[in-house]
Amino acid sequence: FVLADARTPVALFSAGIGVTPVLAMLHQLAREHSSRAVWWVHTTRDPGRHAFAEEARQLVGRLPHARSFVYYTAPEYTVPDPGATGGPCVIHGRMTSGAVRELGVPADAHAYLCGPTGFMSDVTSALQSAGLSGSNIHTEVFGALAAINPGVTSPGTGRPHQPPGPQGTGPSVTFARSGLSTHWSDQYATLLELAEGCDIPTRWSCRTGVCHTCTTPLLTGQVQYTTHPLEDPDPGEVLPCCSVPTTDVLLDL
Ligand code: FES
Repeated sequence: FVLADARTPVALFSAGIGVTPVLAMLHQLAREHSSRAVWWVHTTRDPGRHAFAEEARQLVGRLPHARSFVYYTAPEYTVPDPGATGGPCVIHGRMTSGAVRELGVPADAHAYLCGPTGFMSDVTSALQSAGLSGSNIHTEVFGALAAINPGVTSPGTGRPHQPPGPQGTGPSVTFARSGLSTHWSDQYATLLELAEGCDIPTRWSCRTGVCHTCTTPLLTGQVQYTTHPLEDPDPGEVLPCCSVPTTDVLLDL
């Protein structure tokens, strides 16, 4: 899920924390001083949960042919005076397929979509009905992957949450796909144990650094291994079953 090297228009669609990978693409376009036509379209609940709002506004401002649309879905949200902020075009409500077609994304554009599966299938259908071919529509699910927990008969229930007991005082640990940030505590032996304490969907088998089932991209930060893995994971990946954070970390989990 990376920006194709092309000169055609680009449309970046995201919902909630799915903004993360497409924001990286917006950074790339700004860094290259791209003259491509760019659509930045984000949907979230309300301004309080609008991640990277200012960063995205500044990046869009650096692109001469970019336009930006934000959909706030909270029923109680009230759209401010048009033009009061000079920022993106703000719309109240869900992004309908008609609204996607009205964005005017041309048929030769490459579209990148990241968010929950329902969001992506709706936007994909709308873009296809606007003339984009399926090969120009690139998607990435941004949500937790299904757990692999061999032998566990009563999986954790409910949504990810802060770990039980007093908050840790160590480095911050953010589970990006699950949208949860907490602090490391020495009461946990490994990052995997902390994730389990938060009911983050986890994937493991050996729990000793042998099988690599738990391999997870480490987006930022550093860890150290409490048991050294049999084989090192690839660069940019970690094994949470046998590691602890030494700095603030952002895990793709
Ligand atoms: S669970 Fe086997 S290496 Fe982590």
